[in-house]
Amino acid sequence: MNLDFTAIVPSMPYILQGIKVTLQIVLVAGMLGFFLGILLSLFKISRLKPLGWFADLYTSIFRGTPLILQLMLIYYGSPQIIGYQIEPYTAAVLSFALNSGAYISEIIRAGILAVDKGQQEAAMALGVPYPRMMRDIIMPQALKNILPALMNEFITLTKESAIVSMIAVSDVMRRAYIVGGDKYRFFEPLIFAGLIYYCLVMALTLIGKAIERRMRQSD
Ligand code: ARG
Repeated sequence: MNLDFTAIVPSMPYILQGIKVTLQIVLVAGMLGFFLGILLSLFKISRLKPLGWFADLYTSIFRGTPLILQLMLIYYGSPQIIGYQIEPYTAAVLSFALNSGAYISEIIRAGILAVDKGQQEAAMALGVPYPRMMRDIIMPQALKNILPALMNEFITLTKESAIVSMIAVSDVMRRAYIVGGDKYRFFEPLIFAGLIYYCLVMALTLIGKAIERRMRQSD
């Protein structure tokens, strides 16, 4: 065995700086994906059938093809569609948001369907308009129930974000790979990157648990 973790100590700050890039992509894409997911889930339960068809088709496409393909299509294919090459970071955020929106829409749809029918009936009997009923009565209850599933999605997003290294975004993964090539030893920097991802996921898990506890207090 030939392992020497001290050899990569000078490169650790460089790899650690990738956390900012990774988190930025995950946070922005996660947020956009969340709003997209809400919109699509409302389409799916809408009485206007074409909206539902559109949302179902959207979900089937983004769930039915690899995320890395979507990423590369947006990044390398952009010059042919919009006439110029978009920034790697933009391509990363865009593809992750579009992809995550598909998954989140299903999570939210399940959450909405799980809210007792009586809630909607009561709101309608009281004359609460549909948008307000959704926003103030149904959605808050749905979100509480789907929090663990949503956290799962954000954890997936955090780990999947490593594929942005394929389009030269300097995230944790790419930096570890660069250090590996530089030092002719890949094992140590990759293990270090793995540790970073693990810590990020653990932090997300703790945040999710804290939010969940907070929400349960109001029960
Ligand atoms: N590797 C999977 C794919 O390429 C991950 C998809 C992303 N998953 C998610 N929940 N957003 O299809």
